[in-house]
Amino acid sequence: MLKKSSVNSRSGSGSILVLDFGAQYAHLIARRVRECKVYSELIPYNTSIKTIKNKRPKGIIFSGGPSSVYDRSPPLPDPTIYDLGVPILGICYGLQVIIHQLGGEVIHVKKREYGRTKLTIDDHLDIFKGFKKEMICWMSHGDTPIKLPNGFKRIAFTERSSAAIRSRNNNIFGIQFHPEVSHTPQGLRIIKNFLFNICKCKPNWTMTSFVDRSVNEIKNKVGKESVLCALSGGVDSSATAALVHKAIGDKLTCIFVDHGLLRKNEVQEVVKTFRDNFGFNLIKVDASKRFIQRLKGVKDPEEKRKIVGEEFIKVFTDKETKIGPFQWLAQGTLYPDIIESSKTGSQSSRIKTHHNVGGLPEWMKFKLLEPLKDLYKDEVRKVAVVLGLPNTIVKRHPFPGPGLAVRIIGKITPAKIRICRDASNIVEEELLANELYNRIWQAYAMVGDDKAVGVVGDKRILGHVVTIRIVESVDAMTADWVRLPYKIIENISNRITNEIPGVSWVTYAVSSKPPSTIEPQ
Ligand code: XMP
Repeated sequence: MLKKSSVNSRSGSGSILVLDFGAQYAHLIARRVRECKVYSELIPYNTSIKTIKNKRPKGIIFSGGPSSVYDRSPPLPDPTIYDLGVPILGICYGLQVIIHQLGGEVIHVKKREYGRTKLTIDDHLDIFKGFKKEMICWMSHGDTPIKLPNGFKRIAFTERSSAAIRSRNNNIFGIQFHPEVSHTPQGLRIIKNFLFNICKCKPNWTMTSFVDRSVNEIKNKVGKESVLCALSGGVDSSATAALVHKAIGDKLTCIFVDHGLLRKNEVQEVVKTFRDNFGFNLIKVDASKRFIQRLKGVKDPEEKRKIVGEEFIKVFTDKETKIGPFQWLAQGTLYPDIIESSKTGSQSSRIKTHHNVGGLPEWMKFKLLEPLKDLYKDEVRKVAVVLGLPNTIVKRHPFPGPGLAVRIIGKITPAKIRICRDASNIVEEELLANELYNRIWQAYAMVGDDKAVGVVGDKRILGHVVTIRIVESVDAMTADWVRLPYKIIENISNRITNEIPGVSWVTYAVSSKPPSTIEPQ
């Protein structure tokens, strides 16, 4: 992917850095801090001290992690981190790191401490300020401290461990349990005590302040130059475009490519919202014929993705050449994308290629504008609301870049496109009518070449089998099928078989992710 330069629109100094030691929950820590309206960034545990200093953090949190400090080469931060004078909070493995690096001792214990555990607090001065004597916390560790470093004191304990420690002078804290998970009911209060009482943070990270800062940054960056944005109608590219438009108005041009595999009414809605309501410079390119032509006869899903990606670039660059030049390309890259792409060999990226567009050709020498690259998805939705985008865009379910191509199993034919699109629309309509749409991650219909007998009027027909997939999820990494009331499933099924010619059976997908995935291919 082309990466020449990028714009960063976060608050700058005053943030909380979360050092990632590989914990499953590391992201969650950053999320919790942001929920307290304090900007927080996840960075690798071995980030150089110079980089850390340049970020001028107000506090540093060490995440947990799967390692043990007595491993042959455990992940450890640069030890001069303790000399920065910045408050530190170590969580689980993070606590053990502090103990290990500052001269204490951690050993492996036979009996792990796992799950809901009673914590007794013996010092209420700082992170436990305002707490009662006892609380419930969530533990998950097999290593435990047996000797604290000089100058450290135990401030809470469980039956089996010194569960919290403090070095008062240095403002260094460690807790063995996980305050970031909901199973530690008062965990957020501990995080708040750290942020506001110890790090003296101010709760001023809001999406409104983010928009104001971003608009200024974009203005300064772009100056008199012009920006191009590929708009898909999804919340990420829509919020990106709206933010850039707020900053530079007509110097932004959006290209919206209709590849013929979009959701029902999507083209009209995008044009109406952005061109008619917002007055964007929006160029709609109807390229459906050439996409469908190139996809003709293709069965393999990865091949479909590749074709859509390649064709997208052709259409996009053709247009850019005609209407350019543009110096900047605005993209809706989000924070998890950045984190994910910085991890090499990530298992998930090998399962499917999820890229909407492949890399743009080198000759398109764009500078990159990625104003959302520090945000999580739910924060992007809030930004979209601040920018005045309609609910149809803000709350729209995620949709794969190659669109219906991945929901049509086997060859893509006009009949299958029609069935897939219309049936998905019925699913969405029924969920909206029952006020369930916003509580669901994704919902759609898929169609393949399986056929089954049905009786329409007095005639037996061999119609398509349509499968409905409705899942709930937090981040698409895992998902569960939704236990929809039978009545709603029944309505969806009846409407599909009654309203869509060529469909005789409807099935409901009842497999979770894992082992299944959200999309069928
Ligand atoms: P899976 O099917 O792997 O999907 O469980 C996880 C999330 O990724 C979306 N997805 C895609 N998004 N291009 C995209 O932009 C793709 O080719 C693609 N395939 C899956 C899927 O909709 C879900 O949200």
